[in-house]
Amino acid sequence: MPSIAASVLSRTAQPHPAHWSEITAGLGAPQASISPKYFYDQRGSELFEAITRLPEYYLTRTERALMHSHGGAIAAAVGAGRVVIEPGAGSCDKAHDLCLRLAATHFVGVDISADYLHGAIARLRAALPGLDARAVGGDITAGLRLPAGIPAERRLVFYPGSSIGNFDPPQAVALLAQMRALAGDDGALLIGIDLPKDRAVLEAAYDDAAGVTAAFNRNVLAHANRLIGSDFDLRQWRHRAFFNPVASRIEMHLQAQGRQRVRWPGGGRDFAAGECIHTENSYKHPLPAFTALLREAGFARSQSWTDARGWYAMVHARA
Ligand code: TRP
Repeated sequence: MPSIAASVLSRTAQPHPAHWSEITAGLGAPQASISPKYFYDQRGSELFEAITRLPEYYLTRTERALMHSHGGAIAAAVGAGRVVIEPGAGSCDKAHDLCLRLAATHFVGVDISADYLHGAIARLRAALPGLDARAVGGDITAGLRLPAGIPAERRLVFYPGSSIGNFDPPQAVALLAQMRALAGDDGALLIGIDLPKDRAVLEAAYDDAAGVTAAFNRNVLAHANRLIGSDFDLRQWRHRAFFNPVASRIEMHLQAQGRQRVRWPGGGRDFAAGECIHTENSYKHPLPAFTALLREAGFARSQSWTDARGWYAMVHARA
């Protein structure tokens, strides 16, 4: 009998034993789940870009407006001549505006998707010739090594987009502590967070009328099919997004539209009608609760700016 790993190697075009173990463990658990990191294949990244432009998805545009209207005050608090480090930098659009505003000396964009990042860094260099801009392929949760020549002083870790909300509070504290270590003793963090608000507004942002978020959520099954050779039928799974007030988070799930048997090399699972696969959370921490997480992670004084509706905040925290 070939081992499970060997049968995966022989039956899928691209062998991914590590993905196989992680995805099948999640699918096999009593409450099935798939890690949100599998959202971001090529199509998933495109769909996510489309989400940020949806009328219901207020986050991106509210953060941009906030950075614009309070840009002077934010820059004054952060200080000029910073070494800006952005985990998950992606297109580096937000970094461009911030580095310009701060007259930053250096920029380090960090992203798991290094190819995409290299192009973005090249554009940033062309737009801001005075900025020493570098790309680092990697994941800050996995202990990052910065390139030689990046000063250890005056660092600012920039984490916009409310991505911290996609981590459970203990994981979020661990990630913030990594950022605290990266920033150094004279460093700081500038982070965007989405705040609790009217339930209908929140739920629409994660379940838009055009169905883009639904397509984004379902796409994780297509990605899983390629990674582990499973046979999910995407038409049989419905997008669900709802606010869980106890945990103060949006939850995204995929719900089986009838009894399902899903198979993959080396295993499989039966799903009852209505059973869900949990795909992501997006926490909406009130500002005081978020400040407490920052403290736990080793940050001290913090200052924040909020839009007129009180929907979103930029927080500056010193180490
Ligand atoms: N972090 C953002 C948020 O929680 C962006 C995001 C991550 C997102 N995963 C998502 C948006 C899934 C919509 C659906 O809103």
